[in-house]
Amino acid sequence: MIFGAYPYFPEDSINSILNEIKLVLKGGRLTEGPYVQEFEQKFAEYNDVKYALAVNSGTASLDCTLRHYRLNGREVIVPTNTFISTPNAVLLAGGKPVFADMNEETLGIDVEDAKRKITSKTAGIIVVHIAGLVCPQIHELRQFCDEKGLFLIEDAAHAHGAMMNNQKAGTFGHAGCFSFYPTKVMTSCEGGMIITNDQQLADEARCLRTCGQNSERQAVMLGHNWRLSEMAAVVGRHQLEKLEEFIAKRNQVAVWYGQALADVKGVSPLHVPEGFRCSYYKYPIKLAEGIDRVKVGSILKEKYGVEPGHVYYPPCHLMPFYKNTFGTKEGDLPTAERVLKQVLCLPMHYAITQENVLYVRDALVSALTELKTA
Ligand SMILES: Cc1ncc(COP(=O)(O)O)c(C=O)c1O
Repeated sequence: MIFGAYPYFPEDSINSILNEIKLVLKGGRLTEGPYVQEFEQKFAEYNDVKYALAVNSGTASLDCTLRHYRLNGREVIVPTNTFISTPNAVLLAGGKPVFADMNEETLGIDVEDAKRKITSKTAGIIVVHIAGLVCPQIHELRQFCDEKGLFLIEDAAHAHGAMMNNQKAGTFGHAGCFSFYPTKVMTSCEGGMIITNDQQLADEARCLRTCGQNSERQAVMLGHNWRLSEMAAVVGRHQLEKLEEFIAKRNQVAVWYGQALADVKGVSPLHVPEGFRCSYYKYPIKLAEGIDRVKVGSILKEKYGVEPGHVYYPPCHLMPFYKNTFGTKEGDLPTAERVLKQVLCLPMHYAITQENVLYVRDALVSALTELKTA
C-alpha cells in the first residue's frame, strides 16, 4: 500500500527524540516546561514573528485565537472548503460561521465571495491555505480587513513553511494557526501552534490555554486546558529542525508528479504560481468533468494499493451537522460543490520515491481507462 500521508522521522531524529524523552521522564516535568518553551521559541524564529504559543491541537489553536475576539454571536467568514475544525472553532468560540465559496484555481477561499458575505455582524475572516498554497490575495484581504476593522486569521494547518514572495504562511493576518496532526507536513503527534505579533493576543492565549489562569495562577477568564505536553514538544521541535528538508522533498515529489502526469488526459494538478513555495501537504489533482472521482479513488485503493485522499469532500456547508443546524444546502456555494466533486489527492509525503510516483501514475491511467471502457 502506498499511503496517502505518512509521518516521517529520520533515524537521527528518532534517537535524539528518545534521548530527550528520557530526560523529560526522569526530570519529572511533563508539561509547561523547557521543551515547550524551546519549541515555541524556535517556531517563532522560523516564522520571524514575536510570539508562538503551543497548544494541544490545531482546533485548539483556532478556538483559542478566536476567543480573543469576543465573538458573542457575531459572524466569521470561513471557506466552505476546509476541514470541519475551521467552522467548528468559530461555533465553539461563540460565533457563527458564514461560508464563502471556493476559488477554482487555488481551492482556497473565493475572496470576492468572502467580501460579499460581510454584514454589520461580521467580526472577521479565516483563510485556509489549502494543500500549502498561500492564498494569492492574502495582502489584499489583510488590507480589506484592516479598513473594515475585521480580524484576519490564517488557518495554516496545511502550510508550515509555505511562502509567498519569501513571506511565511501564518504571518500575513493577525494570527496564524497551525496543526501538528500526524498527517501534516510536520507533527508533534497531536498539537498546534498560534503565531502572532499581537502581544495582547499572545498574552491572552497563554492564559486561555491553561484554564484561564494568569502567571500567578489566578483564574482571570474562562479558559480550557489546551496545553501541549513536554513529550509532544520534543517531537515537534525535532520535526521543525527537519521542516526545510521535508518541504524540499515534497516539492521534489511534486515535480516528479508534474512530469509523470504531463501527458495524462483529464488530469490537472494544482497550479503553483511563480513566487510561491507550496508546502505540498497534499497533492490535489482535478479530474475532467464526467470522471467519477469516487470510482477512481476506489480502483486506486482496492486494485492498486494506492491510498487516495481528498481536500475536502463534502464541503463543510454540506456536512450533516451544518445542514441540520444552519439549513445550508446544495446550491449555496456552486463552485465548491462542482469542483470538489472532481478533486482527488495523490499520495504525498516525505517517503514517496520517484518509483512510487511512476507506479501511481500508471495506476491512475489504468483506473481512468477501466472506467472509460466499463
Ligand atoms: C485546515 C485545517 N484546519 C484545522 C485542522 C485541525 O487540526 P487538528 O486536527 O490538529 O485539531 C486541520 C487538521 O486536522 C486542518 O486540516
